[in-house]
Amino acid sequence: MSESSITWLAADPPFTLLAEHDGESAGMLRKAYGCFPTGVVAVCALCDGQPVGMAASSFVPVSIDPPLLSFCVQWTSNTWARLSKSTRLGISFLGASHDAAARKLASRAEDKFDGFGLGATPGGAVLVDGAVVWIECSVESVVPAGDHGIVLLRIIALTMRPHVEPLVFHGSTFRQLQTAMPLSSRAHA
Ligand SMILES: Cc1cc2nc3c(=O)[nH]c(=O)nc-3n(C[C@H](O)[C@H](O)[C@H](O)COP(=O)(O)O)c2cc1C
Repeated sequence: MSESSITWLAADPPFTLLAEHDGESAGMLRKAYGCFPTGVVAVCALCDGQPVGMAASSFVPVSIDPPLLSFCVQWTSNTWARLSKSTRLGISFLGASHDAAARKLASRAEDKFDGFGLGATPGGAVLVDGAVVWIECSVESVVPAGDHGIVLLRIIALTMRPHVEPLVFHGSTFRQLQTAMPLSSRAHA
């Protein structure tokens, strides 16, 4: 593209300079981040013999060699304070039928695991029944990043059922994927 073809953006609504809107920036950022659709994972482990876990939408696959993945955790999380002491963590990619389970995992309920099945590995990773992928991992490092920590995890073992439909989180709502209608069929619909 030649330089002369670039036009100045006329943003509608206009850009908000975060530095000039301190009071509103947290709300705006939450809303903007919520416009990015993600999957949802359950991060769970046995702590003192009891299952402990949380829902996380910040999961990101990182590296094939070595096998690394990550998620971000809020420093204030009581759940993470317990999970971080475990030598093994279980990551379950939640399926479309797990919306109630995801809500429970994100709550501060007494029994977060009521209403769905769990299994544990000998190492203490806890995995959710019916998930798309199960991963057993260990914490490689935790990188401070503002009010969150980026938790880098090393995969020890995994298994998957790729035919299971995933759970999607978008705009503060749990959703399911729909196959897009091919453009050619849309023209005739
Ligand atoms: C869809 C969804 C995604 C979430 N993703 C994250 C996340 O990536 N990181 C995080 O720290 N908390 C996340 N949470 C919040 C935790 O699941 C949970 O609510 C929180 O850990 C509860 O606070 P506590 O750990 O102090 O009990 C998410 C919640 C929901 C509903």
